[in-house]
Amino acid sequence: MNILGISGSPHKNGNTAYALKHALNVLKNQNVKTKYITLSDKKIHPCKGCWKCAGSGRCIDPDDMDDIIKAMIWCHGLVLATPVYMGLVSGQLKVMMDRCVVLRPSYDLPLAMQGKTGCGIACAGFRHGGQELALQNIQTFLLQQGMHVINDGPPYSHSGGTIAGTAKEDSLGLKTIENMMHALISALTHHEEHL
Ligand SMILES: Cc1cc2nc3c(=O)[nH]c(=O)nc-3n(C[C@H](O)[C@H](O)[C@H](O)COP(=O)(O)O)c2cc1C
Repeated sequence: MNILGISGSPHKNGNTAYALKHALNVLKNQNVKTKYITLSDKKIHPCKGCWKCAGSGRCIDPDDMDDIIKAMIWCHGLVLATPVYMGLVSGQLKVMMDRCVVLRPSYDLPLAMQGKTGCGIACAGFRHGGQELALQNIQTFLLQQGMHVINDGPPYSHSGGTIAGTAKEDSLGLKTIENMMHALISALTHHEEHL
C-alpha cells in the first residue's frame, strides 16, 4: 500500500507541513509506504489550457509536475493538504490540481487515478476559517479524477482533517488527521480484499 502526501503550502515547515507529516507518521507506524512532497520548492506553471496533452497524456511544457505525476501514478492513496487561503485552497495547490488534467486528458484515454482513494487536510488560521470549503475543493478534484473520497472517519466523522491555528497545538485537529489515516488504511485494505 503506497500513500502519497502533498503539501500545498509555500512554507516548507509551516502548519500544513506539520499536519501532513503527522498524518504520514501514523501511516509509517502501520508499516505503510509513504512519500511526502511539498510544493514549497517546486516550480509548476499554471495550465495554459492548450489541450496538447489530449493525445499523449503529457504536458508539452514540462516542469516539476513530472515528478508529481509519477508519484501520483505510484500511489494507491493520496492525501492533499492545504493552507486555507481566502476560504479556499492555496493557489499553489490549485495550480497543481489543474495540471493533473494530464491524468485525465481526453475521453479516449482511461483516468489514471480511477479507483484510488484520497482525502484532504485543511489548515486555517482560525476555527471556521474556511476549512470545510477548502476540503470540498480538494474532494471535488479527487472525484473528477475518478477517485474514492473518504472523510476523517469515526468517532467524529466530519469533512476530513482540519487544523485551526498552530498545528502542533491543535490536539483535536491532529486527532481528526490520525482518525482519517486509520480510515484511509481501512478503506484501502477493504478495497484490496475485494479485488
Ligand atoms: C493569503 C492568505 C490567505 C489566508 N486566508 C485565510 C482564511 O481565509 N481563513 C483563515 O482562517 N486563515 C487564512 N490564512 C491563514 C492561513 O491559513 C494559516 O496561517 C495557515 O496555518 C498557514 O499554513 P502554513 O503555515 O502551512 O503556510 C491566510 C493566509 C494567507 C497568507
